[in-house]
Amino acid sequence: MAPYAHHVLVCVGSYCSPDRRGRGLYAQLAQLLQREGLLFGPNRVKRGETPCLGVCEGGPIVVVYPEGVWYANVTPALLERIVTEHLRDGRVVEEAVFHRALQGDRAEGPRR
Ligand code: FES
Repeated sequence: MAPYAHHVLVCVGSYCSPDRRGRGLYAQLAQLLQREGLLFGPNRVKRGETPCLGVCEGGPIVVVYPEGVWYANVTPALLERIVTEHLRDGRVVEEAVFHRALQGDRAEGPRR
């Protein structure tokens, strides 16, 4: 299997986002990845939906690996920035990050 450059997990659960906005983001993510040419080739991205990431507030929550960057309060506009700036151009959207899993930060929870 060819490698993936990134793996993106979208929480579609109802605790972090009572109106389950994550479901819409997950569908939008597929469209954005296709638009930006990130479904195939060396920069391809694997997406996955998950029922819970253990945060359960300030969602929808979106996580990007291998960087281990966790984004909170992800709107459709922010998701577009994550795709174009982080996944396509390699620049983390710093102002939306609330946790970095691979740097030993303790998760304090996202700002509401
Ligand atoms: S329901 Fe989304 S983090 Fe738990």
